[in-house]
Amino acid sequence: MKILVTGSAGFIGFHLSRRLLEAGHAVAGIDALVPYYDVRLKQARHARLEREAGFTPHIFDLADAPRLAEVLRQEAPEVVVHLAAQAGVRYALEHPESYVHNNLVATSTLLEAVRHQPVRHLLMASTSSVYGANTAMPFRETDAVSTPLNIYAATKLATEHIGHSYAHLRQQPTTMFRFFTVYGPWGRPDMAFFKFTDAILAGRPIDIYNHGRMERDFTYVDDLVEAITRLIPCVPQAGAPVAPIDSLSPVAPFRVVNIGNASPVQLLDFIAEIERATGRKAQRNMLPMQPGEVLKTWADSSLLEALTGYRPATGIATGIAAFVAWYHEYYAV
Ligand SMILES: NC(=O)c1ccc[n+]([C@@H]2O[C@H](COP(=O)([O-])OP(=O)(O)OC[C@H]3O[C@@H](n4cnc5c(N)ncnc54)[C@H](O)[C@@H]3O)[C@@H](O)[C@H]2O)c1
Repeated sequence: MKILVTGSAGFIGFHLSRRLLEAGHAVAGIDALVPYYDVRLKQARHARLEREAGFTPHIFDLADAPRLAEVLRQEAPEVVVHLAAQAGVRYALEHPESYVHNNLVATSTLLEAVRHQPVRHLLMASTSSVYGANTAMPFRETDAVSTPLNIYAATKLATEHIGHSYAHLRQQPTTMFRFFTVYGPWGRPDMAFFKFTDAILAGRPIDIYNHGRMERDFTYVDDLVEAITRLIPCVPQAGAPVAPIDSLSPVAPFRVVNIGNASPVQLLDFIAEIERATGRKAQRNMLPMQPGEVLKTWADSSLLEALTGYRPATGIATGIAAFVAWYHEYYAV
């Protein structure tokens, strides 16, 4: 198949593109190389992909509607996986405009372009952050989500709703993923697992918010990519739920699917695992809760399993060891 991946120079887009190329698909990757974090890492990911036959990079901003229409016409993909976004909770406190542009404007531009050139399946990334202040655990796709706690979550929730409207109006089959804290090799330098490893190896203290009293459903990137590749052929069909727990819309070929490990880990246990993998003790800088953060995330992954027969299972000992090994190799430290 010809698959268009947006955010192909990003952490998840890189891993997904690599997996799709290995499976023999052709991948057209779009990325604007946004300088939110080290652009050299994004360029290195793309350079890796460019070594594979079947990868075509396109460097531009998705909000550029004429260019996007031209690339879609030229590439004629059967499937679009939309991962490009402004991610991160803390950055949103100071730079809400980046979330409005890269999440709302860019995603709307993509949906409008796909309207003129429909695809067999459109899959788009949302986040566990949309569960906001919900306290009923584990989080289910059918839970009400109306309490986003930060601009990142609010813009992602809006893209779910805009995606639903397009799926309804245009009968465009659409799957919305809700990812739960993804980590692994080639990861994002703004995320805690990366920052902690970086600081511990350099002998700098690490900032631990809410005195470590937080839990996250950490999901290893290879498991996430496995789940995405299995969801590509699961095209939602209006009126055909797969199970009583299905989140399928009653009025559109649209569903939301959690992709998480379904086993939350205490932040301090996660840090202890990084200490084990690096062989160093962290200097802990205990801080109060950051505004906009949630205390705990926990995915119910029954729907993913009902759809694909698969559920993520890699534990943090294996996942962190793989990340730290990559870090040593990539940064030669
Ligand atoms: N990593 C996680 O833990 C996590 C958790 C939940 C949801 N997500 C979502 O998964 C997706 C991928 O996340 P990631 O961790 O790979 O992030 P990332 O920042 O590494 O990748 C996103 C990529 O999109 C590109 N991009 C941003 N705006 C663009 C635009 N307007 N036009 C073209 N390219 C643009 C960036 O340059 C970047 O390379 C995002 O939608 C994110 O919100 C990630």
